[in-house]
Amino acid sequence: MFFVTTAIDYPNGKPHIGHAYEKILADVLTRYRRFRGEEAYFLTGVDQHGQKMVKTAEAEGVNVATLTKRNTKGFIKLWDKLDVRYDGWAETTDDRHKACVQAILTELEAKGSLYKKSYAGFYSVRQEQYLTDRDRNEEGEFGPEWGEVEEREEENWYFKLSDHAVWLKSTIENDALKIIPTFRKSEVLNAIERAGETDLCISRPKERMSWGIPLPFDPDFVTYVWFDALINYISLAGYKKPGGSDLPDFEELWPADLQIIGKDILVPAHAIYWPCMLHAMGFEAKEMPTLLVHGFWNIRGDKMSKSLGNIVDPDELSDKFGTAALRYYLCRDINSGKDSDFDIERLVMLFNTELANDLGNLLNRSINMTKGFCNSTISATDTNDEGDIALRKSLASCTAAYKTAMDNCEVSIALQAINDHVTHCNGYLERNKPWEMKKDESKMKRVGEVLSHTAESCAHLALMLRPILPEAADKIFGQLKKEALKDLTIDQLSWGLLTAGHQTGKPKPVFPRIQAEEKEV
Ligand code: MSP
Repeated sequence: MFFVTTAIDYPNGKPHIGHAYEKILADVLTRYRRFRGEEAYFLTGVDQHGQKMVKTAEAEGVNVATLTKRNTKGFIKLWDKLDVRYDGWAETTDDRHKACVQAILTELEAKGSLYKKSYAGFYSVRQEQYLTDRDRNEEGEFGPEWGEVEEREEENWYFKLSDHAVWLKSTIENDALKIIPTFRKSEVLNAIERAGETDLCISRPKERMSWGIPLPFDPDFVTYVWFDALINYISLAGYKKPGGSDLPDFEELWPADLQIIGKDILVPAHAIYWPCMLHAMGFEAKEMPTLLVHGFWNIRGDKMSKSLGNIVDPDELSDKFGTAALRYYLCRDINSGKDSDFDIERLVMLFNTELANDLGNLLNRSINMTKGFCNSTISATDTNDEGDIALRKSLASCTAAYKTAMDNCEVSIALQAINDHVTHCNGYLERNKPWEMKKDESKMKRVGEVLSHTAESCAHLALMLRPILPEAADKIFGQLKKEALKDLTIDQLSWGLLTAGHQTGKPKPVFPRIQAEEKEV
C-alpha cells in the first residue's frame, strides 16, 4: 500500500493557502498512485494540542476545547470543498491517538530512553522550545522569528535524542531515510552535528500548560506538542491498536512512502526528532519514512503572516474562481521544494490561457466538430500521415514525461508535459484545418481522422489531468461518452482508447473563462 501523510495543521485559525497547497499536493500524489494501479492510503489531520491553541483560545475568550472543535470543523469543510479526499483523519485529541502516545511513552520510560531533570534557560513561546546560544543572531539576540522569549527554570522529562545521533547520521547519509528534493539533505546533515549535543524536552508542567496528553508515569506533566503530534503518523495508522479497532493494519501501511511537509518543519522535527523517536521505539533504518519537503508560498516575497495581514484564504479563492482554478494554480506555479510567490493575477491568467483557451478549445473543437462534421462518430486512426505520426509521438513523449515527473512528485513538470501536447494538438488542428476540408466531400474521411486524433488525445490528457483536476476530467469523459476511462491505469494508456465507430457526446465548456471583473478579491 502506498502510504501518504501530510503535516497535521494547527487549527488555531482558518486554513491558509500553505495548508491548502500541502493537502492538495498529497491528494494529487495519492490519486496518481491509484492511477498507477497501486493501492494508496492518505492520512492527514490537525495538531490540536499545545500552547499555540491555548494562547489563541485565551485571546478569543473561548474554552480551548471549544476553539479546537470549531476550527477543526473549518479544516474538514475546506478539504471537502477543495476535493481533498483522505482515507484517515488524525486529530490529536482522539482517544485512539492519546492511548498510543501514552503506550509509547510508557515503553520508552521502561526502556530507559527518558529521564527527568531541572533546566534553566530561554524559552520561545511561539516555537514552544528552549533556545540555545546557537539560536541567537549576529547581535547576540534572539531574533523576532522566536516571538516572545522568556527565562524559565523547571523540571521536565527528556528523551535521549543524543543516543541516536550517530545512527541517524548514517541513516540519512545512506538514504535509508530519503529526503526529497535531495538539496535538503545537507541541511539535515549539518543539523545532526548539533543535535548530538542535546536531548529533547518532551514534557510541559501541567500547572503551566495542561492542554496536552498526560505523561502516564508522571501526572504532573503533559506531553510536548511535537512529541505528541509526530506520533499521529503511526497512531492513526494502526500502531499498537487494540483488538477490534477500526484503524488500518499498521503493517500494511508502514513505512510511509511520502511524508509531505513544509521546509520549516524539516529540521529538527521531522528529520531529527521523528526518526530518533522511531528508532528508540525499535524501528530499523529500513523502516524510516521518505520525507517530501515542499517550499513556501510567499506574498510578494514576504512570508504570509497574521501580523502582516497578508494571509491568503483558499476558501474565498475557491468561491471566487472555483476549486479547479485553485488546484491547478497551486500545482502549476511552484517548483519542487522551492518557494513561490502567490499571485492572483497569475492564477487567473494561467487558468484562462492554459485551461480555458488551450485545453478548453482543443476539447471543444474536437467534440464540436466531430458532432457537426462526423455525426459524433470516431474514425479509424491507423494512418500514415506525417502529421498524424508526429501527433502520436508527441502524445507518447507527453505520457512518458508525465509519468517520470509524477513519480518524482514534480507535479508542475507533469503539467508542463500535458500542456506541451495540448499545444501540439492545437497546432495540428490549425495545420489541418478540418473546418476548411469539410467543404470538400472527398476529404471527409480525412476530416474524421484528424478530429479523431485530437479526440483521442483529449481522452489521454483528461486521464493524466485527473489526479489534479478530478471533476474536470470526469466531465471530459462524459462529453467523450466514455466514463469507463476513469478505471484505466497509466499503463493502459495506449493509442486507441476511442475506437472507430465510438459515438462522442455534446461539447460544453469545462473551463469557462474567468471574467476580468472577477479578478478583484
Ligand atoms: N502542527 C505542525 C506540524 C505537525 S506535523 C506532525 C505545524 N502546523 S502548521 O499549521 O504551522 O503548518 C502545517 C503545514 O503547512 C506545514 O507543513 C507547513 O510547512 C505548511 N505551511 C505553513 N505555511 C506555509 C506556506 N506559506 N506555504 C506552504 N506551506 C506552508 O507546523
